[in-house]
Parts: sequence; C-alpha cells; structure tokens
Amino acid sequence: MKKNIILIGFMGIGKGTTARAYGKKYGSFIIDTDDLIESKANKKIKDIFKEKGEKYFRNLEQECANWIETSVEHTFISCGGGFYKVNNLKKLGTVILLDASYDWIYNRLLTAENSKAKLKKRPLFSEPKKAKKLYKDREKFYKEIADKIINVEDREMKDIIKEIHKGSYI
Ligand code: S3P
Repeated sequence: MKKNIILIGFMGIGKGTTARAYGKKYGSFIIDTDDLIESKANKKIKDIFKEKGEKYFRNLEQECANWIETSVEHTFISCGGGFYKVNNLKKLGTVILLDASYDWIYNRLLTAENSKAKLKKRPLFSEPKKAKKLYKDREKFYKEIADKIINVEDREMKDIIKEIHKGSYI
C-alpha cells in the first residue's frame, strides 16, 4: 500500500481546507487533484468544463491518478468530488472519506466568507437541485470505496486532522 492519504468526499465539504490544516500542523506535503489538473491544462476547472466538457475533465482526472500512482509518495492528496471514479484509486494510498449531510455542506458553502467564489468555481453546484441529486447518487459509492470514514459535521478541524494523523497513513 502506498503511503499517501487520498482524501475524498463531496464538493464543498472542506477537503482542501482539511489538507491545508494537516500540512500546516504536521509539515507534510499536500497536493490537490483539481490544482494539478488546472496547472497541467493551464485552465480553470470551470473553463475546462465549459470548453471541453465533463468527459474530457474525467480523462484528465485519470491521467492525474496515473501520475500519482507512479510518482507520488508520503503526500496528503485532496481530490475533486468525482475523483473517486478513477480506476486505480485504491492503489494510490489510504482512501479517507469526509462525510456530512448535503444540507450541512450546502450551508457551509453559503455561509463561507468567499461563498460566491466557492460556488462559481464548481460547475456542478450551479443548480442546487442537481447537486443534491448528485450527492444522493454518490453517497453509497463514496462509503463503499473508503478505507476510513470521518464525519465532519460540527467537528473542530484540529480534531479531524488529529484523527487522520493517528492512523500514520503517510
Ligand atoms: C467535481 C468536484 C470539483 C471539481 C469538479 C467536479 C465533482 O472538486 O473536481 O468541479 O464531480 O464532484 P471539489 O470537490 O473540490 O469541489
């Protein structure tokens, strides 16, 4: 098993925030699959979706997973909400799911300081009704693929990262 943390979960649940808090506290390298894809494509995610479509984006996610498999070790990796579908996810490291109800996630986004920007950069959140359906459709698959599930509803970040750190996954 590769020594990486593969952090998955629904859009807006706080994967990036968790990764940054973990890196700050424990000094590990952190990377984000959306950031990697944006720098490789030299385009923002929302523009990739607009100009090339979702399928093209999913292929970039697979390429990104292949690179992680061959080249990344001892790293905390936060993943886009659909990244769990890559065909080699379990080979990349320990898969940790951040879990919360849809309403909690939506509320987190709405009440965030930079709420507008957070919603704008996520094309699949442009219609809350559709986003909720996506959440329902994915819920079961997230849970099935995860090695560990952490419910983050109303928990302090310091406790969440401590719980992850206890596992010595990286
Ligand atoms: C997606 C989630 C996004 C981003 C893209 C597609 C998804 O990442 O990868 O917009 O399919 O759930 P975040 O989970 O970081 O918002």
